[in-house]
Amino acid sequence: MAVEVIPTGRALGAEVRGLDLSKPLTSDEFEAVQQAWYDHIVLLFRGQKVSDDDLIRFSRNFGELDIAPASATDMAGGQALSRPEIWIISNVLENGKPIGALGDKEAEWHTDMSYVAEPPMASVLYSLEIPSKGGDTSFANMYKALEELPDDLRAAIEGRIVNHDSSTTSVGELRAGAGVVLDVRSAPGAKHPAIRTHPATGGKALYLGRRLNGYLEGYAVEESEELLDRLWAHCAKPEFSWTHRWRLGDLLIWDNRCAIHRRDRFDGSERRVMHRTQIKGDAPR
Ligand code: OGA
Ligand code: MN
Repeated sequence: MAVEVIPTGRALGAEVRGLDLSKPLTSDEFEAVQQAWYDHIVLLFRGQKVSDDDLIRFSRNFGELDIAPASATDMAGGQALSRPEIWIISNVLENGKPIGALGDKEAEWHTDMSYVAEPPMASVLYSLEIPSKGGDTSFANMYKALEELPDDLRAAIEGRIVNHDSSTTSVGELRAGAGVVLDVRSAPGAKHPAIRTHPATGGKALYLGRRLNGYLEGYAVEESEELLDRLWAHCAKPEFSWTHRWRLGDLLIWDNRCAIHRRDRFDGSERRVMHRTQIKGDAPR
């Protein structure tokens, strides 16, 4: 069966049909997937039945893997016993401790692990257990957000650096070992250009990380806060986004260099278990 690519019709995202990711891809298949990924930023593969080894093998087509990020809480067996490349995202408790990160809370708009010097270029997320409703994941196209940025905002960030805070997770919890940020100018994390050039597509994209404790270098704190509020309000416009409602066996890959994502909260009495890999990337430039 040939590889079929069906765009969502929104600002980003496409479904790819005709592939069983529990089996290695041929080089022709991978080339088709990679081109579709460059074109659509987020790809959805439905009805997959993949083991952690399969997930890792599929992810490695794109490049070397990073190990999973530090999480907020003291984790139960799950994360500790799992492969270091697999990040477990879950609200499930075992013996009173979470088996994974992020719980049942809303995760605000963010791009993954941008608080390190060389953030992962991509994340791959696979659904093992999902709630009956809620927990949808939305994506927004940062090439488009930049293209349509008002001129004054573009001028305000052109050539500027943003500090990407590392102290909290996307649900706003302090990571193990991190202190509360009292002054955004001295927040821990990584400094990256506010506008980056995608090394494979050559496209320019807004690259802001996450709102919480962000800082636009070179401005007074109040000016940076105001600019970041305006930038984030712009990025969150519905015309740049697409929302994915999960089904069991869905596998998504997204490009952290040109997309942000967020997750809706869900009812904590239901179970949600996802396994993620993250693919190494370069220093943004
Ligand atoms: C992630 C993330 C969203 C979700 O995997 O990086 O933000 O749907 N997860 O759980
Ligand atoms: Mn994320």
